[in-house]
Amino acid sequence: MRIVFIGPPGAGKGTQCGRVSRQYNLPHISSGEMLRASKGDSAIGKLIASYIDGGNLAPDDLVMRFIIDRLQSPDCEHGCLFDGFPRTLNQAELIDAHLAKQEQKIDAVLNLEVQEDVLVERLLARAKVEHRADDTLETITARLRVFRERTAPVLGHYQAQGVVRSIDGMQSPDDVFQSICRALDA
Ligand code: AP5
Ligand code: MG
Repeated sequence: MRIVFIGPPGAGKGTQCGRVSRQYNLPHISSGEMLRASKGDSAIGKLIASYIDGGNLAPDDLVMRFIIDRLQSPDCEHGCLFDGFPRTLNQAELIDAHLAKQEQKIDAVLNLEVQEDVLVERLLARAKVEHRADDTLETITARLRVFRERTAPVLGHYQAQGVVRSIDGMQSPDDVFQSICRALDA
């Protein structure tokens, strides 16, 4: 099972990937976590920080290198959960082509749907606890715009493959998880 979690910032991708990872014993691959872990004082670390702290997408080639490298690990042999990847049509086409070479594919795309005002509320609440550099109102607004413009089209790409399942992400975390399990087990 190779499952993509798609949804705007704050939709609950990370929260639900953690749960699904434990339930289905699949590794959780978060492109955002990988990029955050690579921020630092090196030239590349500074470049990455300049993209993500401003709410802009990191370049596709850089993200693809991280992802393809991670997929070489033996724990990904039977599947994985992609959290926040692919995020552009180009990334979707590149990962589809990469998987196809190994006779693999994306089996399901879970589309977590949450109203924008609730997303902003959640992220501003998280800012007080986690202090993520991109959880400021200005950067949240930029991230939401980038999602609408660059990432939402990825849904159309996978809808054409018939693998998208929409999930009401406004429910409680437990109920979102139940909806996801029902969608995956159907
Ligand atoms: P990324 O780390 O993926 O961030 P994001 O998409 O903005 O999403 P978040 O992590 O903020 O939210 P989430 O959906 O995981 O929600 P969470 O479960 O935390 O990416 C960060 C940046 O990295 C991007 O902006 C970009 O710059 C770069 N990047 C990443 N991937 C890239 C790619 N593929 N290509 C290029 N650039 C890339 O929940 C949020 C909060 O809400 C938490 O506090 C949680 O406790 C709470 N919550 C969760 N579910 C519920 C619920 N059901 N009810 C109430 N509260 C809830
Ligand atoms: Mg996340």
